[in-house]
Amino acid sequence: MAATSRTRISLVIILLLLEAIFTIQLQAIAGKPDLQLKLDNKILQESVVNLINDNAQAGWRASMNPQFANYTVGQFMHLLGVKPMSEGDLRGISVVTHKKGLKLPKMFDARTAWPQCITIGDIRGQGHCGSCWAFGAVEALSDRFCIHFGMNISLSVNDLLACCGFMCGDGCDGGYPISAWRYFVHTGVVTEECDPYFDNNGCTHPGCEPAYPTPKCEKRCKKQNLLWQDSKHFSVDAYRINSDPYNIMAEILMNGPVEVSFTVYEDFAHYKSGVYRHLTGEEMGGHAVKLIGWGTTNDGEDYWLLANQWNRSWGDDGYFMIRRGTNECGIEEDVVAGLPSSRNIIIEYGHVDVSHDASI
Ligand SMILES: *[C@@H]1O[C@H](CO)[C@@H](O)[C@H](O)[C@H]1NC(C)=O
Ligand SMILES: *[C@@H]1O[C@H](CO)[C@@H](O)[C@H](O)[C@H]1NC(C)=O
Ligand SMILES: *[C@@H]1O[C@H](CO)[C@@H](O)[C@H](O)[C@H]1NC(C)=O
Repeated sequence: MAATSRTRISLVIILLLLEAIFTIQLQAIAGKPDLQLKLDNKILQESVVNLINDNAQAGWRASMNPQFANYTVGQFMHLLGVKPMSEGDLRGISVVTHKKGLKLPKMFDARTAWPQCITIGDIRGQGHCGSCWAFGAVEALSDRFCIHFGMNISLSVNDLLACCGFMCGDGCDGGYPISAWRYFVHTGVVTEECDPYFDNNGCTHPGCEPAYPTPKCEKRCKKQNLLWQDSKHFSVDAYRINSDPYNIMAEILMNGPVEVSFTVYEDFAHYKSGVYRHLTGEEMGGHAVKLIGWGTTNDGEDYWLLANQWNRSWGDDGYFMIRRGTNECGIEEDVVAGLPSSRNIIIEYGHVDVSHDASI
């Protein structure tokens, strides 16, 4: 009697196990065609817009952003060009912590703090290339040249994208933000005037495929009278900033905008205004942008203020806000920057001083 019931229990267990294995296999088979189908879908969905806008607690508004009107899920994912780094790769990089006791303003916007620095408010466009890792870096360093040296320059994404090579990752197929800053230290970066971005017109014709490949490294200014080596601008160092929000705010207040990476989900493509937090949709990839300020809404929600590079027909005129202090989508985890170097800019310095003297 006891023996038969034991046999029966074993049989049931075996059957359950078999069923589990079978189900797992079925799911594995079903997984692939599903994803394939999704990559060809449009990234923007009315259902997502409605879900967000019908949720009074969302804290942000969604819309069918014109910038992505014709983007598929696959094309959108390609824009998210931050490659993950291993613990080992991160170990050698210095992490900056700021001394406590700085009086931080409740609200800060780098555009109004340094109104003479017009690049801070620039919204660029990365086109169809996964070059966000380069944009965030080049934009923050341009701003820092203005903040520290009083010069208006726009630095070149193309130089970094085309000439940093495998050190920085894989060009339009993604790269490492911290490697961009290291390139600024060792090789320097030319101006946008010398080497303009290759994909400024976007992909205007229908069915623009395959995506543009990474531009070739030519080390030659497109403008006749400019020299590649003379156009190089360097940074002193390349560092990470401690994830505690105090440190991030202190860094921006003292040195200017920083580059941050975070995880993008489907709903982020639909962001229009307000303070973003992830509410719906799958993980799409890692993205890098420029962090320019912070504040608190009337409802008491703390936020970060950022400039994206998806043109002005995405989000809040190209900008967005995201929750601050909760490491939303990892926004406080991977903050990188460097200080601008006076190397190679002696001539421009002289020029600035001369014109200043002349006006007195
Ligand atoms: C940068 O250029 C803008 C517009 O041309 C100008 O208003 C501003 O004063 C310049 N800033 C510096 C630091 O030269
Ligand atoms: C995106 O912005 C850039 C720079 O402002 C501009 O040159 C380009 O035409 C814009 N692209 C699209 C697709 O709107
Ligand atoms: C999207 O594609 C349609 C048709 O191909 C075109 O008319 C429209 O201008 C495109 N929209 C954008 C924002 O590129």
